[in-house]
Amino acid sequence: MFFCTECGESSPKWQGRCHQCGAWNSFVEEKIIEPAGGAGPSGRAQGPVEPLKIAGLFHESEETASREKRVSSGFKEVDRVLGGGFFHGSLVLLGGEPGIGKSTILLQIVGALATRGSKCLYVSGEESQSQVASRATRLGIADSAQIGFLSTSSLESALQLANDYQPQFLIVDSVQTLESDQFDSAAGTVSQIREVTHALMKYAKSRGVTTILVGHVTKEGSIAGPKLLEHMVDAVFYFEQATSGGYRLLRGQKNRFGPTNEIAVLEMSGRGLVEVDNPSERFLAERSKEMAGSSIVAHLEGTRPFLTEVQALTQRCYSGFPRRTVQGVDQNRISVLMAVAEKALKLNFAEQDVYFKVASGARVVEPAADLAILFALVSALKNEALPPDMLLIGEVGLGGEIRSTTGIEARLKEARNVGLARAVVPKWNLKEAKHVEGVKVIAVSTVAELADIVSRSSVNF
Ligand code: TYD
Ligand code: MG
Repeated sequence: MFFCTECGESSPKWQGRCHQCGAWNSFVEEKIIEPAGGAGPSGRAQGPVEPLKIAGLFHESEETASREKRVSSGFKEVDRVLGGGFFHGSLVLLGGEPGIGKSTILLQIVGALATRGSKCLYVSGEESQSQVASRATRLGIADSAQIGFLSTSSLESALQLANDYQPQFLIVDSVQTLESDQFDSAAGTVSQIREVTHALMKYAKSRGVTTILVGHVTKEGSIAGPKLLEHMVDAVFYFEQATSGGYRLLRGQKNRFGPTNEIAVLEMSGRGLVEVDNPSERFLAERSKEMAGSSIVAHLEGTRPFLTEVQALTQRCYSGFPRRTVQGVDQNRISVLMAVAEKALKLNFAEQDVYFKVASGARVVEPAADLAILFALVSALKNEALPPDMLLIGEVGLGGEIRSTTGIEARLKEARNVGLARAVVPKWNLKEAKHVEGVKVIAVSTVAELADIVSRSSVNF
């Protein structure tokens, strides 16, 4: 059979272009050996079938039922990304580059689950018994009697052991290294990944065993194998390197039982991964408070607020072709905000080279960061530092008007946590902003109005 590596579509003939998903050159040949008996999974049910009445499904409120079924991973931040812990009986995929720490975090999670009395089985097709043992010792979980381990690349032996051992959690590291003996293609091929995932999904759902699969990623950063893999599982999480600071981010990408776009910040230590409790404080620690061109943005990743420093530098340009070198935000956005500043504040960037970067290496895409970005540029041009204890929040319109934004309370609370005394918010958000105590709130409606306030509240602006 031929399989599309993009969507998993099968065909008895090779195709230049997949008729299902339209991808070019995506078909690969794989040998299929039909299982004995050949009944297949799509056998017809015996006798007539009746649909369930949807009204009856809600007798037990799903919300309360699901809350009871959550199990903590042992990491507060990871639980938030999961949507309050692992959902009972779910099939979860964890993707990430080699060496990022997938095996490490899963061993730590297994350790935490075991100390709370859950029985776990860790199947590794990647590492030998001694490798896992030495890592478990390092992580301090080696003496747990609740954790079973098997080093194999055979799907059938993994499932057989799981059936006998009856764990509550099954970890498979990784889905690309397991193979079913029903196919004679190698581990990691489309048909093998499909079969392995399918079998594990059936196992997870029928036994109510929460199953976590590790997935390799390709050079492009997506999980290797057919897209089908991501469709089949309940949740997909990516573990990735933050662009600076050595932090690792766990990001929810798909989640049938929780939010997506939440992130957790972790750090690799000598004893495994540790949560970074207050990333904003860390991100701002190296800020030079009296520096012109520096300001703070409060951006949300999911519901999690992060404070990050942004920096602008302007320099007289003699070539007649001013440079615009921008990192961490869209370059067009910088052009727009400079144009607004020129018009609303009567400034001139025309003869300036402009350099702009987000200090922690994060990407800032939210409109709410406009105001802080604009004033970083203005501060650089004027060569005068902004008040160091002031957070600027708000979207800026082309007329220099400041527009409302979401998540004001979360952003202000984070500002308070790192000890910022004052915050500028859009006039429209004043009501919500008043709910947060401990930060002095200043409401503004235009960029010009804010420039005025800034110059009065800082002696040297
Ligand atoms: P690993 O968890 O094997 O990554 P993956 O499974 O995603 O390929 O490896 C993570 C890296 O972290 C590895 O290079 C070794 C290092 N490490 C530490 O620094 N401290 C530790 O306590 C452990 C267990 C690993
Ligand atoms: Mg690994």
